[in-house]
Amino acid sequence: MTEYTVEFVGTGETITCSDKRTILSRCIEEGIAQEYSCRVGMCLACSAEIIEGEVEQQVAVARGLTEEEAEHYTLTCMARPASDLKLDRGKYPPSIEGDVADGDAAAADD
Ligand code: FES
Repeated sequence: MTEYTVEFVGTGETITCSDKRTILSRCIEEGIAQEYSCRVGMCLACSAEIIEGEVEQQVAVARGLTEEEAEHYTLTCMARPASDLKLDRGKYPPSIEGDVADGDAAAADD
């Protein structure tokens, strides 16, 4: 097990997260205000932009993100850190940005 540092840009919040845990589960434990809903990679509410670092999120790609989106965005409910990270919470892939702005992240395919 390897422990990584996850920093949230803009807020300065920093948590540690092992490569065996999801980033969202650690956010919830630490009281970080990361949005989420389904916790199974379907709603995309927990999205964050990857500013720096790498994540392991094969399940997120299988469910909610395209391969291309997964290079720049992470679903924190599915993602485990693969390096130290800098993330920008509340940033969504362009393909769903309009739906989220309307308060309907789950309607990404509408
Ligand atoms: S909480 Fe729904 S995709 Fe992560």
